[in-house]
Amino acid sequence: MNTVLVGAQWGDEGKGKVIDFLTAESDAVVRFQGGSNAGHTVVAGGRKYVLHIVPSGILHEGKICVIGNGVVMDPAALADELEAVRGWGYTPEGRFFISERAHLVMPWHRALDKADEAARPGGSKIGTTGRGIGPAYSAKVGREGLRAGDLLKPDFPDLVRACVEAANRKLRALGADGVDADEILAGLVPVAAALKPFVTDTVSLLHGLAEGGKDILLEGAQATMLDIDFGTYPFVTSSNPTAGGACTGTGLSPRQIDRVVGVLKLYTTRVGEGPFPTELTDADGETLRRRGGEFGATTGRPRRCGWFDAVVARYARRINGVDFWAMTKLDVLDEFDTVKICTGYRRDDGFTYDTFPADLSALARCTPVYEELPGWKTPTSAVTSYDALPENARRYVERILEIVGGKLGVLSVGPARETTLRTGI
Ligand code: GDP
Ligand code: IMO
Ligand code: MG
Repeated sequence: MNTVLVGAQWGDEGKGKVIDFLTAESDAVVRFQGGSNAGHTVVAGGRKYVLHIVPSGILHEGKICVIGNGVVMDPAALADELEAVRGWGYTPEGRFFISERAHLVMPWHRALDKADEAARPGGSKIGTTGRGIGPAYSAKVGREGLRAGDLLKPDFPDLVRACVEAANRKLRALGADGVDADEILAGLVPVAAALKPFVTDTVSLLHGLAEGGKDILLEGAQATMLDIDFGTYPFVTSSNPTAGGACTGTGLSPRQIDRVVGVLKLYTTRVGEGPFPTELTDADGETLRRRGGEFGATTGRPRRCGWFDAVVARYARRINGVDFWAMTKLDVLDEFDTVKICTGYRRDDGFTYDTFPADLSALARCTPVYEELPGWKTPTSAVTSYDALPENARRYVERILEIVGGKLGVLSVGPARETTLRTGI
């Protein structure tokens, strides 16, 4: 049974928590896109762990963890994260692997990311994480990238020097300082040595696992609405976080994917710039941020918060072929008198969208259409079964399922591992 898990909104839905939960019954966990722009949180044994590039399955000793070819990997950030993992008492040796095809995020990509953001005029800033993701994927698609396998080659210094020359021309054109090849190469010597044992042919590794009947869990980062094709372009990330990306980002074939789990936060958040139809800038938005602890796990930025958007969720169900939803953060809504679900976007000329428009200028002319439901005003974090939830909480969840489609597989009522209700997966 191979499972793809994807974010269904704008990221930070609680993917890390759900991956950790599903890892218990999987053999391998594989990241297939993105890089250390992700921040996946797992709370276990009273401790909080944030993973950026190492698969969230690493906190289960013995499980195989893979960085697939679709990931862009910052070698220095990865080496640091592996050190942190060891410090937490887990061993990557023998069970952690990096695709030799994964592209590298290099210091000039980070510099270009920041310089590009700084050079964009106000309304066109993306609000990136500054982790070099866009420039690294640009280099990949532009056929001038470096891959993990290159780290081990004797001519790596020459490849770096050629890249630095080209990158410095771009940096200077953007009014930024260039980077220094010698400094970069010196920094990379220990990093390359630390990563060398893990770099391998993960396509063969994953097919070997699949052929041996092992269960593979594919860990999406970012989310559907940040997808380079399906998201709120250009306010997106530079990869395909949707289910299709799981195949191109690992080398597994679409025929080997058995099920898709979509992670849905029971309200909406977004970090960075770009449209957000149900955003709340009032006291309710502040309550969501405070109760939900909505501050970025990677950058610490306050997340924008708003009501649940069923237009987004339905669009995500279709694009990803979601079999089961993992719904999270029900407990954050415990205090509200009423809760709202956005069912459509009404344009100023009266037309109502029930799917997400590609044209952001059309979206800007829309206001959300809401259904309002009674709140439950009861704490839900200590509830241990779906049936024991307050009736209005179940009504809320079931109304969402009615509008959006798909089945409920997991319901999360708190950050900790234990606060996870299994409902059907
Ligand atoms: P990811 O990027 O999708 O893995 O999500 P993040 O880790 O960036 O953000 C989710 C945040 O919500 C983390 O701080 C989690 O610990 C927390 N979280 C996850 N599920 C729940 C839940 O059901 N209730 C509450 N209160 N917090 C949760
Ligand atoms: P996880 O996996 C939320 C957002 C950034 C920015 C846009 C582009 O934790 O859900 P990038 O650095 O990727 O070029 O930034 O995407 N973004 C995320 N937002 N969660 C994430 O990851 C994100 N990764 C990138 O804020 O708006
Ligand atoms: Mg996150």
